[in-house]
Amino acid sequence: MADRKRSVGRFGDGARFLRSLMSSPHLTGAVAPSGRALARAMADAAGPPERGLVVELGPGTGPVTQALIDRGLDPLRLVMVEFNPEFCRLLRGRFPTARVIQGDAYDLPKTLAPLSREPIAAFVSSLPLLTRPPAVRETLIGDAFALMGEGGVFVQFTYGLLSPIPRDMCEGRYAVSRGRPILANLPPARVWAYRLEAGVARRAPSQPRRKETRR
Ligand SMILES: C[S@@+](CC[C@H](N)C(=O)[O-])C[C@H]1O[C@@H](n2cnc3c(N)ncnc32)[C@H](O)[C@@H]1O
Repeated sequence: MADRKRSVGRFGDGARFLRSLMSSPHLTGAVAPSGRALARAMADAAGPPERGLVVELGPGTGPVTQALIDRGLDPLRLVMVEFNPEFCRLLRGRFPTARVIQGDAYDLPKTLAPLSREPIAAFVSSLPLLTRPPAVRETLIGDAFALMGEGGVFVQFTYGLLSPIPRDMCEGRYAVSRGRPILANLPPARVWAYRLEAGVARRAPSQPRRKETRR
């Protein structure tokens, strides 16, 4: 029965995803929600950490969220940042004790301002980063580390072959770890994890943007 419910849920999520893809392809960036193997690999790469908040960027319909919770993360320590209002409504219903912020993940200083006193331990991102120029990706990860405490991790999956944060931008700054390809996912994907290298100082967060740019 539980399995049947899950597969009916997955079918509905697939339809929601397709709708979102058709209305804003650069935002959605995938043809279907991540499969369980990829969601599990994301949760494994994040830890999840024993203390602090976990901020999920681009949770969509929540497969990675569910994997983080299945892996032991208390939903009270989970904050989701999602642009699509329909996904936000769905996530609030599915994960009532987690926080859902409807906002722009590429403007973290502004979007996460309400959390300013709470330590963040990890960012888990499913944003379609490759639709954004490298400089925007560099600002995103820089802001994430500016907002995290010591030992923070930034986890990202990609369908591409290369590091979604270009290697030259990581050199001397981020230690990069590359997961194995998840062939069970359609399309196959890979999980990358970034940590600040020892001795590298965190920079200040960038200025919040005044106006939303392209979503
Ligand atoms: C590739 S989907 C991943 C969804 C889900 N995590 C999964 O694995 O199935 C990307 C998600 O990022 C969201 N997104 C894209 N750009 C965003 C932005 N600037 N701020 C917040 N969410 C964004 C999309 O609405 C979508 O839900």
